[in-house]
Amino acid sequence: MKAEATAPGKMILFGEHSVVYRGPAVVLAIDRRARVLAEKRNDKKIFIDADDLGFSGYFEDDVYYPVHGKAWRGRNLAAINVATKKTMERIGVEGGVNMKVRSMIPIAVGLGSSAAICVATVGAVQQLFDANLSRDEISKLAFEGETIIHGKPSGVDNNVSTFGGVMSFDRSTGFKHYKMEGTMPFIIGDTLRKRSTRMMVENVAALKERNPEIMEEILASIADLSTRGLDALLAKDLPKMGDLMNINHGLLSAIGVSTMKLESLIHTARKNGALGAKLTGAGGGGCMIAVAEEKDLSNVERAIRQRKSESYRVTLTDRGVESRWVEEENADS
Ligand code: PMV
Repeated sequence: MKAEATAPGKMILFGEHSVVYRGPAVVLAIDRRARVLAEKRNDKKIFIDADDLGFSGYFEDDVYYPVHGKAWRGRNLAAINVATKKTMERIGVEGGVNMKVRSMIPIAVGLGSSAAICVATVGAVQQLFDANLSRDEISKLAFEGETIIHGKPSGVDNNVSTFGGVMSFDRSTGFKHYKMEGTMPFIIGDTLRKRSTRMMVENVAALKERNPEIMEEILASIADLSTRGLDALLAKDLPKMGDLMNINHGLLSAIGVSTMKLESLIHTARKNGALGAKLTGAGGGGCMIAVAEEKDLSNVERAIRQRKSESYRVTLTDRGVESRWVEEENADS
């Protein structure tokens, strides 16, 4: 038997960048998941098979030894090593583990892939040692792994990936979770251009430094939009959400985090029936999201694909981290 855990990716619906200074940001768990399988080893190695991403190797005393792929890939896998070790420390066990990582969430485009992998890692390891950790504990341990990659993450990604559903985050009041009945479809358009969240956050900080008053006003307007956007989402008022997404995008564009490619996909979506479209996450590449009536979804998706970009539908999911035992022969299913 192997221990398995899965955890969802996320998208930011409203409030990115403003949340670095105030908030709220409105974040949703989406039905694309990362999956981690864990089994015990007889030595102390943390072996990580991430062959779907093109590399695998093991850590011994925190030093990475590649098996497939280059040695620097250890940087991508360090978060999994840390999340595994911190979880074992918390449970009070020692030893080595084989981890197999598979994910349906594209990496480095703002869809929370690294957090989902960290959350699924903690979920699988605690299952492996029958620890029954609470979701709060899983989220905290995953955050320690995330910190290795992002330096100072806000904690939104690991939180929404652990709990699922809809969440808002505000610097002063923290996380709030909301229940929503049923699902809601969104369209994602992926520019296929990777970007660094850290760099985009630094660019906004520099712009703010040079233009403090005007930036304060824009960031406050985004925060206001975000609060209204949360209400529209919970009321399932698609036209209102669309309006607010369009306005939010205009302000993100104003603070310099959009790109020509993002603009092109956003305008394509609107022209083909979307009620609203905006970039999601840090910007500078990565993804845009759109909402549309059911009858227009395929049109929007198709139009985005014709712009040399990926497009797919995602729905909001209530399913956070889930762990279980799987039979050896089902481990790959
Ligand atoms: O692109 P992502 O998913 O890393 O989101 C970044 C969101 C920011 O508000 C730009 C930064 C942050 O830490 O909240």
